Order: sequence, then C-alpha cells, then structure tokens
Amino acid sequence: MVNILQENTDGIRGHVNLNAKTSPQAINEGDCIGHSNCHAEKRLEQLQNVAKNEAHFSKFNMFREIQEQQETIELSLNQQPADLIKASEFITNADNIYISACGTSLNAAYLGSHMLSHISKYDSKVMIGSEFKYSYERLDPNCVLLALSQSGETSDIVNSVRHARSEGCKIISFVTNQNSTLGKLSDLVLPLRCGEELAVAATKSYTAQITIMTLISHYINGTHQQLIRDIKTTIPNIVSLCSNTQSAIYEASLLLCQQKACYFVGRGCNRITASEAALKLKEVSYIHSEGLSAGELIHGTLATIEEGTLLFSICPSDDTFGDTISDISYAKGKGAYIIGISDVEHQVFDKWISIPKASECLYPLLSIIPLQKLAFFSALAKCVNPDSPRNLTKIVSTSQETTKRQHSNGI
Ligand code: G6P
Repeated sequence: MVNILQENTDGIRGHVNLNAKTSPQAINEGDCIGHSNCHAEKRLEQLQNVAKNEAHFSKFNMFREIQEQQETIELSLNQQPADLIKASEFITNADNIYISACGTSLNAAYLGSHMLSHISKYDSKVMIGSEFKYSYERLDPNCVLLALSQSGETSDIVNSVRHARSEGCKIISFVTNQNSTLGKLSDLVLPLRCGEELAVAATKSYTAQITIMTLISHYINGTHQQLIRDIKTTIPNIVSLCSNTQSAIYEASLLLCQQKACYFVGRGCNRITASEAALKLKEVSYIHSEGLSAGELIHGTLATIEEGTLLFSICPSDDTFGDTISDISYAKGKGAYIIGISDVEHQVFDKWISIPKASECLYPLLSIIPLQKLAFFSALAKCVNPDSPRNLTKIVSTSQETTKRQHSNGI
C-alpha cells in the first residue's frame, strides 16, 4: 500500500506546489564521504572505512531500496497467470501499441518497448507523458496503452490515460498501488510488487517495471519460464556486489563529486540504461549528466570532450560491445577518462565496474544497480542528502491544474 502522497498547506492530498522551493534535509557531517578540502586518497580511505559497515547507510531510504532489489525483482515476477494472458491478448490483438510514462518510468517504458520488439517482435511507440496531448496518433478501441507509473498519480500520465480511454483505448497500467488513480482507470493492472518506495529517486520501482515488461515480452514469446530461472539465479549476485566492484564505485563517486558534468553512453538497450543512470545522478547529486547513444558521440558531443572528462560506458558483452568500444576509443583519444560497466574488462577502460555475465535481456537489470549506487555515493561525496533532492517531489500531481487542463482539452 503506497502512502507517499504529499499534503500541502491546503491539505489537498496529491497536490504539489511546484513553485515552492523544497529545501533538502540536512545531512550529518559523519555521513559526508570525506571533506572536500582533504586529499583524494584520504577521502577514498574514509569512504572505504565507512563502506566496510554497509548498515551505516541503511538509514537512507534510497540505499535500503537499492539493496531491497535482491527481493523485489523476484517478487515482481509474481504476476497472476490470468493477468499475463490478458496482457498478452491486449498486446497481440492491438493495431497500435503505445507506452507512456514520465521520469524514471519513462526510461522503463523505452526499455519495455525495446524488449517487446526484440523478444516478442511487437512494435510499440513510446509517448512522453507530458507530450501525449500534442501527438496525433490514432487512438481507438483497437489500440492498447501501457501506462507506467510508480505512484499511479502523476498528472501527465493520468491525463494521457483519461484521454486514451475516452477514445476507447484499452489501458494496462504498471503501478505500485492498484487503488491509485491510474489503477482505477485501467482495464488491467500489473502490480509492481516492490513495496512502498520512499526515496524521491526511483530505484526498485524501475527494476520492477523493466522486469515485468521483460516478463510479458517473454510470455508472448513462450520463453518466460527460462527467464524466471535466469533471474532467480543471477540477481542475488549483483545487489551484494563483490568488493572490487564496490571500491570501483566509491572511487568513481569521488572522481564525480569534483566534476561539473559527465556522460553515460551505451548502444541498444544499454543506451536507455545510460539515460536512467544520468537521470539518477542528476536527481540526487546535482551533477549535470547526459545519457546518450555511444554512436552519437562523434556527431557533436565529441567537441565537448577534454582531458579528464568522465565518460561512463555501459557495454556488457552483448551484440553492442564491439561498436561501443570503438565509440569510446575515439573519446579516449580526445582525453576522456573511461569508466566501463561490463562483465568483461577492456584496455580502453581507465576504471572497470564489473557486473556478472548473464543472458542478454538481463543486462539492463544488472547494469543499473551499480549505477544507482554510484548516484547515491556521489550525493554523499558532495554532502547532499540523497533522500531529499532539492526542488523535486516524489509525485508531481497538480490536481487543480489537471482539472483545468482536462476542461480546456474537452476531456
Ligand atoms: C517525479 C519524480 C521522479 C519520477 C516521476 C514519475 O518527477 O521526481 O522520480 O520518476 O515523477 O513518477 P511516477 O510515479 O509516475 O513513476
């Protein structure tokens, strides 16, 4: 049961005043990782000392929620067989398949679309929640809209769904709370089963959403039992990372906290992981970051690369590996410092965050967890509280504005 809607001074649940400045809660000095004026080696030593006792970080919702993914990814697989049958019927019978979401859920939507076309060979179109009303796609009873939202209350999604429903579209929602506004507007709800998410930055809801999208894609393909076996054997290894990986993350977070900006790159589905990693870092550490296709580096971004620019490359040993290595080699030639996230090491990496080898469709789950940790530790390295990022709220649900917009759209 989700209980995270905010109450504003008018006492209207779910109404968040975006004009109000939200101040982050202070962080205890003891939780800051190193002091900005101390030498990098000393800061690393401090970080490693604190990190020996992971329980120390459990006071932060974001850290607990990252760790919980060991269980929540598996729990999200636990969908009712009747619901999977209904979801696959809606998808396979539809003339057009749309997927809509905002923020982190939007990245899950892009991954879901990738999985649907890659695994089950059904093409879908991702529509940004806030752009839905400006699109001119056909919406009718032969279409299905998959709405992804952790809270089920985000106004841009709720409005999109109301509009699609009014045109007769079938709605499948992926939400934590089945009784949310979105849940109530849906023909079918696939619950995320990841429990309440308190940190503003979404972590376990994202992995639950992509797990369910991957499950549906395999279900349509008839290969879901193998997927379930693979997830059960692979996931426990990644949340409790090996110590080499842990220290690579700490070292990278110390490098990051001295930077104004960085890049995350990947190809194929790893490009979407790059976007989500960049969003997570921005949200909690305020470091500007951009996630992009590694292949796009040479089409403009290379001009910004200079000595020491941090570039994270998500390049597991899937079919994107060779191309991505060649893309980042160009950037390294211009001075970029390359941090590789991969199950295999490569000489182009200056630092390697290792992930386990797995079947291809699991890499989006495996790669994002160390990158969520990277965002968390980068916030601490900047003495920022990762649980309460400035200017952000868990739910952007402006109920009065929603009503006004619906009237003006004739919904
Ligand atoms: C807000 C939050 C984001 C979240 C987005 C979508 O902007 O700050 O972290 O990803 O809403 O939320 P939803 O509940 O619809 O997934």
